[in-house]
Order: sequence, then C-alpha cells, then structure tokens
Amino acid sequence: MRAPYRVALLGLGNVGGALARRLVEDADRITTAAGRPIALEGIAVAHPEGRRAPAPLLPAAKLLARPHLDAIVEVMGGLEPAHTYISMALRAGRQVITANKQLIAADGPELARLGPLRFEASVASAIPIVETLAETLGADRIGSIMGILNGTTNSMLAAMGEGASYADALADAQRRGLAEADPSADVDAHDPAAKLAILAMLAFKRRIDPSQIERVGIRNVEPAQVEAARRGGCVIKLIAAATGDDGTIAADVRPRLVPAEAPMARVHGAMNAVALDAEYAGSLLFEGPGAGPDAAASAVLADLIRAANDAPASAGSLLATLADGSPAIVVPLGPEKPYRAAS
Ligand SMILES: NC(=O)c1ccc[n+]([C@@H]2O[C@H](COP(=O)([O-])OP(=O)(O)OC[C@H]3O[C@@H](n4cnc5c(N)ncnc54)[C@H](OP(=O)(O)O)[C@@H]3O)[C@@H](O)[C@H]2O)c1
Repeated sequence: MRAPYRVALLGLGNVGGALARRLVEDADRITTAAGRPIALEGIAVAHPEGRRAPAPLLPAAKLLARPHLDAIVEVMGGLEPAHTYISMALRAGRQVITANKQLIAADGPELARLGPLRFEASVASAIPIVETLAETLGADRIGSIMGILNGTTNSMLAAMGEGASYADALADAQRRGLAEADPSADVDAHDPAAKLAILAMLAFKRRIDPSQIERVGIRNVEPAQVEAARRGGCVIKLIAAATGDDGTIAADVRPRLVPAEAPMARVHGAMNAVALDAEYAGSLLFEGPGAGPDAAASAVLADLIRAANDAPASAGSLLATLADGSPAIVVPLGPEKPYRAAS
C-alpha cells in the first residue's frame, strides 16, 4: 500500500461537509479506488469558532504552508481568496481540486498553467462531463453542446408550468435551499453562462470569456408564455448552447421552446443534462443531478481519487494550452436554433 495522500480542505459548507463525511464513512472503498488512504490533514473555514470538524481547523494560510501536503480541495466558492489560495498551492507543487465554476470560467487557463488543476465538479456536479470532454473525447471533433446547466431555474420553470407565478416559484426555490437570497446568478443566467464557457473551452479548444456569452435569464418569463408553450406542445427550458463550426464560436443562454417529446424537455427539477454532437463518437446525452452536496462531492472525490492515482489532469492541461491565446469572438446563436427562443 502506498503512503497516505495528504489533503487540505478549504471550505466545510454544503460540498466540503459532504466530502468530509464521505472521506470518513467510505474510507475503505476510497482507499481501494485510490490505491492508498486519503488523509484529511486540516480544514479551513471562515468562522471556526466553536466548530466541530473531522480534522484540525486551521487558518487557510497556515494550512497551505504545511509541509508534505499533496493536494488542496477548494470548496469555498467566489473569486477571492480562492484564486490566491489556488495559485499558492499550485506554485508550491500541489495538486488542486476545485468545484468553483466562476473562477475556472474566468481564470482557469492561467491557473492551470501553474500546475495540475482539476475541476470536474464545476459543471453539472455529478455528471462526468469535464474529463469526458478533455480526455475521452479529446481527439474527437465536437460540433455542438447543448444543456440545461442550472437546476434552480429548471425547477422554477417546472413550477411555473404547474401554474406558479415567477415570484412564487422563486420564493419556493429559496425555501427549498435551491436559490440564494440573491438569485441573480441563477435567474439572470450568469451561472449557466460560466458553465457553458468551461464546456465550450474544453470542446472547441478556444479561450472563451464568459462575459461574451449572451444571456437572457428567466426573470421575464410570464406564466401565460409557459401556458402558451404547453398548448403548442412545448416546454420552456433555459438552454445553454454553443457551436464551434468553422472556427466561429456561437453561444448563448436563453429560455427556449423545447418540444415536449425531446429528451431535454424531460429533464425535471434540479436535474441537469448535456447533449454533445461529436464527429466520431456521435450524439451523446448525459443527464443527472446538477447540484446538491452529495452530487457535487461525488465529482470532487472522483478528481481526488484521480490525483491520488497520479492520473493526468487532462481538463486542466487542455485549459493551460489556451492561456496565451486571446479570447475567441463569441456571437449569439440567436432566436431560432437549437430551439426557438421563448421570448
Ligand atoms: N452546493 C452545490 O450544490 C454545489 C454544486 C456544484 C458546485 N458547487 C460549488 O462548490 C463551492 C462551494 O459551494 P457550497 O455550496 O459548499 O458553499 P457554502 O455552503 O457556502 O460553503 C462555503 C464554505 O467555505 C468557507 N469559506 C468561505 N470563505 C472562506 C475563507 N475566506 N476562508 C476559509 N473558508 C472560507 C465557509 O466557511 P463557514 O462555514 O465558516 O462560513 C464554508 O464552510 C462553490 O464554488 C460552488 O459554486 C456547489
């Protein structure tokens, strides 16, 4: 048996808490999968006072400075101090695993150039799409990506399909812990645009600035539109889509009218889905939990096991190759394709 793989955890919230539980409760299975035990050396949180934790609680800077650390797992979220901590760890030769879509979409290529960076959990949580694009399909040619990448708005649109107003659907999502007090990242489509930028960089191997992706959120979707869509045999879904034909990247996120019999129409509640068209592998469809502590922690753990097994950080290596390129010009896909815009 190899020596334990020593890990520091930055963040013990929804995802960090679920990961820490798995590391304790599933230790035997994880050891078998990783070929060695994974040892949690310490945890950093924002508010450590009076807190119980499955490993020593330490200030992040102190934790990062510990010798003999193999990897850090960043599940704090936000741009700073996550960017600083991840840069420090990579420069110190550690592996880094993060679930932070905002940071990877904005700065993934520069960070990945510093060292092995893994971010499977940053897009669609439990759906294994990040390494699939970078590694399994790395030599294929991806023509298009289409997905439902935000579970909160998908749940809200479903509730509106059953007669709820936008305000009631939002209040219900907030009550169920699906939407934040400030729901803008979801309802104004910043969150799916960041995830689409990550997928599109991996699929089309071009640098993409997420702010260049046109976004239309669901704030202005009226119950009457949802009802009219239903009468027309459609459902309204917030669709994130991109094509990379002929070197031109077209991408946007907007509510679209999806025919009720299409697979995307049947993606319910907080589920996510990603459809890919690959020249050689053909049409692929992935569906699964797009959020939730256990689903996200499952993707983080997959990266951790790959790191402990010395598997290549394929998605990170791919992003690193884009760091010197200027961002691609991104044009909107427009109102007709892949499905007609709902508004
Ligand atoms: N939740 C999901 O379903 C999900 C799914 C996929 C990806 N993600 C991503 O995973 C990341 C974490 O999400 P989450 O839902 O677990 O967030 P969360 O519940 O808000 O937890 C954040 C954790 O980070 C800690 N933290 C915040 N600032 C810190 C700082 N400066 N130094 C040290 N610790 C700090 C917090 O400490 P305190 O506990 O003391 O406040 C908390 O433990 C985000 O990037 C998110 O986008 C989440």
